[in-house]
Amino acid sequence: MNAPPRPWLDATMPVPDRVAALLAAMTLEEKVAQVHQVANPAPDDVGGFGTCIVASGEHAGNVRDAGTQARSVNALQRRAVEGTRLGIPLIVARDVIHGHRTVFPIPLGQAASFDADLVRECARVAAREATADGVRWTFAPMLDVAQDPRWGRIAESWGEDAWLAAHLGAAAVEGFQGGPDGGRLDQPDAMAACAKHYVGYGLAQGGRDYAEVDVGPHVLQNRHLRPFRAVVDAGVATVMSAFHTIDTVPMTGHTALLGDHLKGDLGFAGPVVSDWDAVGELRQHGVAADLADAARLALGAGIDIDMVSEAFATHLVDLVRAGVVPEAQLDDAVRRVLALKFRLGLFEDPWTPEDRAASVQLTDAHRALARRAAASAVVLLRNDGTLPLRPGLRRIHVTGPFATARAELFGTWTLDGRAEDAGTIADAVRERYTAPGTEVTVDDHRFGDETLVRAREADLVVACVGEHPLRSGEANSVTSLDLPAGQVEALEALARVSRRLVVVVLTGRPLALERLAHLGSAVVLAFHPGIEGGHGIADVLSGDVPPSGRLPSSLPWTTGQVPLHHDQLPTGRPLDPDGDVGRYRDHRDTPAYPFGFGLGYADVAYGEVQLSRPVLAPGDVVELSVQVTNAGAEHAALETVQLYARAHRAAVSRPVSELVGVRRVALAPGETRRVAFELDRTTLSRRDARGDLRLEPGLFTLQVGPHAGAGPTITLEVTAAP
Ligand code: NOJ
Repeated sequence: MNAPPRPWLDATMPVPDRVAALLAAMTLEEKVAQVHQVANPAPDDVGGFGTCIVASGEHAGNVRDAGTQARSVNALQRRAVEGTRLGIPLIVARDVIHGHRTVFPIPLGQAASFDADLVRECARVAAREATADGVRWTFAPMLDVAQDPRWGRIAESWGEDAWLAAHLGAAAVEGFQGGPDGGRLDQPDAMAACAKHYVGYGLAQGGRDYAEVDVGPHVLQNRHLRPFRAVVDAGVATVMSAFHTIDTVPMTGHTALLGDHLKGDLGFAGPVVSDWDAVGELRQHGVAADLADAARLALGAGIDIDMVSEAFATHLVDLVRAGVVPEAQLDDAVRRVLALKFRLGLFEDPWTPEDRAASVQLTDAHRALARRAAASAVVLLRNDGTLPLRPGLRRIHVTGPFATARAELFGTWTLDGRAEDAGTIADAVRERYTAPGTEVTVDDHRFGDETLVRAREADLVVACVGEHPLRSGEANSVTSLDLPAGQVEALEALARVSRRLVVVVLTGRPLALERLAHLGSAVVLAFHPGIEGGHGIADVLSGDVPPSGRLPSSLPWTTGQVPLHHDQLPTGRPLDPDGDVGRYRDHRDTPAYPFGFGLGYADVAYGEVQLSRPVLAPGDVVELSVQVTNAGAEHAALETVQLYARAHRAAVSRPVSELVGVRRVALAPGETRRVAFELDRTTLSRRDARGDLRLEPGLFTLQVGPHAGAGPTITLEVTAAP
């Protein structure tokens, strides 16, 4: 028998025409297969699904699994392409969150770099490595704006600020997809990105994962939808809906936010995938009577792919035949999936060369990037001059649970990193201080009394403390943001006997470091820094690399202060920043360290701010500039110049501080540079409840400085649109 003609294989045809031709040839069962996603299929499972996830979803990214390889992906692909009637290739997906074999800092750590170029490069490398294992779709970046550090998934976020999440998220999409404007997905080293979790998931009540969310339209638009809008504009290929309910409506069945807003107002044209089993979970939410009802509800709301619940696979054929679900709805979902497969070039070349992984994974260049990223994530919180470590120290003692840790440096959602590929912090310090006369001693603090003896003998102690990765990530919330039990006591004991104590905190979330505020000589926050964390941290401690990390989240004094973020709304009764009165009777109202904060080794001074003109009229662009000087004589600085705006009058209340621009500038000792920002009306606009940009005339205070709430200010007048 002759094979049926396959006009969709003509690569010169436009994608929509290829999709239409293929769709017209499909049976109902074949269509449903395309919207069904299975987990970890065996190589001989085939035919009933269009995409698959290779990941241990049941462990929510907290446990490493066997992984996937080109050979097994090719075997699956062969069954799909050669063993089914229409030969439609599969897409193999996996959670490639912050690196693949080369593990970069957790996203929260990458965010501390405030460096979109770095984030883009890390995602590019992750894509290059993961595609070599046959993975063409990652469930990243996570774009949930996270203002409650009790929520463990803050580790996967870009922190508390929507502007930062939008910029870094878009950069990550470009990195995964291989370029701007949707990338070049048909290149074999590019992968489809997935913006998740649409939308508002970071607001989980009490920081309890999956818990309900209650949020009004203005905050939703300006804070939580903003990064999604940015990545849709950047051409993100896919979006994942979130697990939670928003104002009582589960996101998996939220027609207004999925079908109407995302696919309608925002014009998102790719497929929306549910989160793991979330279609089936509509029953637990109490809005679907059974799995068939869940399938009807989710597809109708705008879910195009059912991740693993089987609801679509089991029920959509019958629901369409019975007239309960219009076939046009299913067709729209199938079209989106097929278009992605065409864009990925899978019909032309579904195969992954089986020798590619060995040459592209964990190369020296990838390791060098991981080292740079780890150093860029380090935030210097306090320093009495002990850092950078001076040459000529007689004995450095490295201790603490992270001193000799390897896989624990990776952080949550590391499915493909291998402990044996990671160096330890202790090894990195040892490697750096090899001069005769300097000795580096090490213990992992199993015996606290031994540690104290060694500490007393040393000139300087580096104590590497913090959270195990199992305490952050999905389903890992905490009620206390203090260091894990016993660590502060151990540090206090160390401080009593050490000449100088440097505390390095490794963590998946912002912690309340109140008890470290006066303890030791220096405190640095390194997040979970990835495979080259040891070297990256040693680079900063030694001064080989200037500390440049900035806090992507405010650090509270104590857990009871959260949520705490710089872009809060004014109250009708503002506090006098210099006054004694606060709202809490037992603590301060302000954070221990504000958003954007981070010290360097050099003092950086800001000159006066200047505007090219004091008024922003319609169609205008105003340039704001400031002179920034490295006032020190000894150390280079890498300054993150931050621009914040405050509107004094608008239709609705606007935050006391809105981040609207960032510039990173390298300054040699004594060097002054002029840093400029261009402001147009979009820079200062906010969205109204429907999502339209608005800018009311009035005065704005602009502040340029090293962190939120600091630096010189200037006033700009915005005039009315004609
Ligand atoms: C559940 C998580 O919420 C999501 O982020 C992840 O991509 C999926 N599981 C798949 O592993």
